[in-house]
Amino acid sequence: MRIGVFCSGGDAPGMNPCVRAVVRSTISAGHEAVGIYRGYHGLLNEDLFINAQGTATMTARSVSDLSKLGGTLLRSSRSKEFRTEEGQQKAADILRKHKIDALVPIGGDGTFHGAVDLMKYWDGLVVGCPGTIDNDLIGTDYTIGFATAVQTAVEALDKLRDTAESHERMFIVEVMGRHSGYIALYTALAGGAEVACLPETPTDIPEIIAHLHKLKERGKKSIMIVVAEGDENGGGEKLQADLTAAECPFPTRVLTLGHLQRGGAPAPADRILGTLLGDFAVQSIPKGHTGVMAGRVGGDLVLTPFAETFGQHKPVPESLVSVLNAMAH
Ligand code: F6P
Repeated sequence: MRIGVFCSGGDAPGMNPCVRAVVRSTISAGHEAVGIYRGYHGLLNEDLFINAQGTATMTARSVSDLSKLGGTLLRSSRSKEFRTEEGQQKAADILRKHKIDALVPIGGDGTFHGAVDLMKYWDGLVVGCPGTIDNDLIGTDYTIGFATAVQTAVEALDKLRDTAESHERMFIVEVMGRHSGYIALYTALAGGAEVACLPETPTDIPEIIAHLHKLKERGKKSIMIVVAEGDENGGGEKLQADLTAAECPFPTRVLTLGHLQRGGAPAPADRILGTLLGDFAVQSIPKGHTGVMAGRVGGDLVLTPFAETFGQHKPVPESLVSVLNAMAH
């Protein structure tokens, strides 16, 4: 079998260990691994990984030392052309031309939407791996990249707290998560933030102001608020404007962490998850599984149909929201 692998959408730390696992498991099982650069865009341009011998297969050496590296060796992109039916048919023709029997796309909801579209025109097997910092896919407790993104955001919070304490200020830190509060909630909990504004919970400005007054009365000198970029009230700047207009009791600064959260060496948890899921995806292919994402739920490796992974909003755990509120005293 020839098994293709690519990364698509926003890059995530841990994609590289996942690519490494897909390639090595494919080779160990006696198959051929074909690397496709730049996701669906690269597929449409027949942009294949060429090894040192000049052929379009990846060897075990092609992925040496990859586990510790951030970003993705195969690069990533978002493709407009692939969103058209013509683009999807062309991609299917290219896969047939290169005799690719199966694909392992690594990415988030957009990547799996794309896989569903591709499967209308191509009858190869497709088993995906969840590579996105957002942790917004159903069918896995955590996505590859989430742990590292949270670690990066928590390191920023720790540093900002020093300045916040010195100047008796409040910092509003905007983290990624277009539709999801996972990064914001975990960052707030780990970083000891007083408030988290999430798309999943209502952001009530008078309530936050009342809470800040109480904290000030209790002797708090610094405040950290973590806001998800996808919060229904808006991002960090909007929150600062709203709180200032409502006579916030602390002088405030805003920091948007942005793409910083997508870079850096993957944390061990993401290296392990990427490796486990990459291997599991490859092992699932000869058994005939297709149209599914490999995930890890409660320690078990499971397969979930693509449409289910993005069909519903993955709720943040309410118990964590309660604990965060209890800690903000
Ligand atoms: O989906 C991952 C993500 O990092 C989101 O959290 C964020 O909104 C988006 O990608 C940013 O995408 P881009 O790289 O296109 O700016």
